Amino acid sequence: MSRTLLSLGPIGAVLVAVAYWGAGCGIQETPGILVVSAAFGDPLPGLTAEELARFEAGHVVFSRIFEVADGLGPRFNENACNACHTDPADGGNGETSVTKATRIDPDDGRCDLLSLAGGENLRIRSTTVPRNENARVPVPIEATHVAQFTVPFLFGLGIVEAIPVERLRNLEDPDDRDGDGISGRLGADGTGKPARFGRKSDVATLADFVDGAFRLEMGLTTHLVSDEARAGDLPPVGAPGADPASEPEIDRATAEAVTDFLRFLAPPGRAELEPASEPLVRRGEALFTGLGCAGCHVPVLAAGPSPVAAIDGARIGLYSDLLLHDMGPALEGTCAPGATTREYRTEPLIGLRARRQFMHDGRYGRVVDAVLGHDGEARAARDRFASLDRLTQEALLRFLDTL
Ligand code: HEC
Ligand code: HEC
Repeated sequence: MSRTLLSLGPIGAVLVAVAYWGAGCGIQETPGILVVSAAFGDPLPGLTAEELARFEAGHVVFSRIFEVADGLGPRFNENACNACHTDPADGGNGETSVTKATRIDPDDGRCDLLSLAGGENLRIRSTTVPRNENARVPVPIEATHVAQFTVPFLFGLGIVEAIPVERLRNLEDPDDRDGDGISGRLGADGTGKPARFGRKSDVATLADFVDGAFRLEMGLTTHLVSDEARAGDLPPVGAPGADPASEPEIDRATAEAVTDFLRFLAPPGRAELEPASEPLVRRGEALFTGLGCAGCHVPVLAAGPSPVAAIDGARIGLYSDLLLHDMGPALEGTCAPGATTREYRTEPLIGLRARRQFMHDGRYGRVVDAVLGHDGEARAARDRFASLDRLTQEALLRFLDTL
């Protein structure tokens, strides 16, 4: 990734000036960089009245509790999107996590999403078994890899969706030609389309993710996959009568409303800075680039043309390249159509200050441990961080805490 890894030089030398201070709402400006932001949970600034109405309508569905009569289940994890995506506002994260299980075929090494055994995304509750009885679906015996996935932030995904794929391809360096140890490549969905959503970059569009979430988290059939068995449910919990609603349980208009809600959900702004801490934070920001963190956590990405004026060309302070990177053996988890068991999409650091658990499975409760837990392509950056004295490390952590 040639653009961002500058030689380390004397620690603390100012290497980058990507900064946009002050939380506020609307568009924040600092030298040369405009990024869009608003408070957690707010719509993008500058939406039309018609777009705002779509945002509100989608929000209603996103926070609606689905009952058995609406088609919930027979297997499901939660009964509402915002049962999981809830904190610090709808579209945020939560304390739940979801278990995924996949199989690497020993003969050809291919990733099998275990669709015959109900799909990679396990649903642990059942509408036919009372909650206090154990409805937990066992991990399919065919699985070779099992992993927990915590709930991610959904803020700013409309801008993420509108970033042209060529811009992401420009960040790829699959053969590490520049020799910085960081390669990075775009993920793919099950049909081979280039993908950017999901921690394994295995979903191509927001609409596809919304469809999968209704089916695989809530057991609701959709206009795209309208039969309960193909939607991922299995006998005997899928037996007739277990789910009285007629198919599809989620029609096109309902799915589109939720997609619009996510599309119009704004990225959060940076924390307000005390003047006294500004020098330390600025030093940390320079370190972020100097250590090589920005080689994957690219600070700002821009949308291409969009019919939505508020998204058209908008920049987001995402801190991700949306590419997959090999993170080494310790973080190994499930595979995906375009990702090995060790590859993950660079986690966006936007809104980091509002998170409580870190890495895909939430294994760390402190940011410093997450940084030290990087390996694989991120090993050099991790080692540079680990070799700093405590005060210099603190500068980087203070900067991260402003995101
Ligand atoms: C049981 C908890 C749970 C429920 C309910 C749930 N989600 Fe999620 N959501 C997750 C988890 C876990 C992930 C991370 C999956 C991954 O990375 O592959 C996720 C990821 C996402 C993403 C991808 C974010 C990104 O950065 O790529 C979108 C979009 C999303 N969810 C939308 C929804 C919508 C819409 C609903 C309701 C229809 C919903 N979710 C319901 C747990 C949940
Ligand atoms: C080779 C690419 C790469 C480099 C270099 C890199 N990271 Fe990461 N980072 C990732 C990936 C991928 C994840 C997600 C891993 C997972 O979910 O298991 C991540 C996760 C994180 C997280 C946890 C975020 C969360 O909410 O879970 C933090 C904090 C972080 N990185 C900070 C840093 C810092 C600071 C540096 C520099 C010292 C750095 N990263 C260098 C790829 C990278």
